[in-house]
Amino acid sequence: MRAYLDWNATTPPHPDVVVAMRRALEKSWGNPASVHADGRLARAEVEGARGSLADLLGADPRDVVFTSGGTEANNLAIRAAFPSGGPRRRLVTSRLEHPSVTRVAEALEAEGRADVRWLEVDPAGIPRLDDVALALASGDVALVALQAVNHETGAIQPLRAVAPLVAAAGALLHVDAVQAAGKVDLPEIALADTVAVAAHKLRGPKGIGGLVHRPHVQITPVLRGGDQERGVRPGTVDPVACAGLRAALGRAADSCVQYARMAARRDAFEAHLVALGGVPVLPADAPRAPHVASLTFERWSGAELVAALDLEGVSVSSGSACSAGTVERSPVLAAMVGAERAGRGLRVSLGDGTTDDELDLAREAFARVLARVK
Ligand SMILES: Cc1ncc(COP(=O)(O)O)c(C=O)c1O
Repeated sequence: MRAYLDWNATTPPHPDVVVAMRRALEKSWGNPASVHADGRLARAEVEGARGSLADLLGADPRDVVFTSGGTEANNLAIRAAFPSGGPRRRLVTSRLEHPSVTRVAEALEAEGRADVRWLEVDPAGIPRLDDVALALASGDVALVALQAVNHETGAIQPLRAVAPLVAAAGALLHVDAVQAAGKVDLPEIALADTVAVAAHKLRGPKGIGGLVHRPHVQITPVLRGGDQERGVRPGTVDPVACAGLRAALGRAADSCVQYARMAARRDAFEAHLVALGGVPVLPADAPRAPHVASLTFERWSGAELVAALDLEGVSVSSGSACSAGTVERSPVLAAMVGAERAGRGLRVSLGDGTTDDELDLAREAFARVLARVK
């Protein structure tokens, strides 16, 4: 047996999702753009998923664009606010965002389409609200990009406070809701102009997500091709993935209730890690998702701990990516606690399928690993 405690990286497909996808694979494999009966069967899967995604955010199904996941949805939404050939305008965001936001911001700046204003970061893992107000007061802001829940720390972002400021400044608000959908019920996400979602974070399949937008927002295509998704995102939409997305969304409200009940178990697990020497990254009173614990440990790099725990049957994440033999530190933790401590970060994320047996196994594995003399 292993303990999978990396639900922010991805989630195991829910049995209902597997059943829905298997059914669609056998019956609805047609091209959803075809007018014949086989095409219509496939199209029904696509439109069913579109309706479910629209419902999640109280949007019109016509304002849903299917994407390959959260990354593509973030790219589409942010690029749409800075059309090529348009005037250079301001993009306000922070280093707490996922790379599918921060790297688009950097690219738009390099392309001469945007000036990026990086917000100052509060110890609670959110941008500083006074700095948001200051950034908006500077004028000419086209877009503010702010996630709903942080992927590394679980910090719940201040959408309720930020959304009215953005609206008053006449700017658009893009919300990356990838780590919130199906996990944390945040009605304030609906205050956004554009919202990104990824199926695989809420027990759906990989390879599908969506961008939901308000009717006044015009999305411009990044790819060129056919007329699928009204030409905004050309390419054949996968009806099987849509069936899985729909099944996952169908249980999203229930799963948020289950996640909400998880806080006590997460707190107990985190207390165990603190007793073993872990230091939480967020202050105790910071609003955060009920299933995430982010800590640093003396003498261990996050990457070393991930490897040692893996050998003990526990899957967790360090927030650091290894590339070409070097470990890149989590930009989120670096922005919050500095580069040195960021290198020692470890993220534990539970899910609605996490069992007590898994947590017991993980408790013992952490105790064994952290007792080692290094
Ligand atoms: C907050 C956030 N946004 C976007 C993404 C990217 O989503 P995807 O993997 O579906 O491209 C992730 C993935 O970890 C994420 O955590």
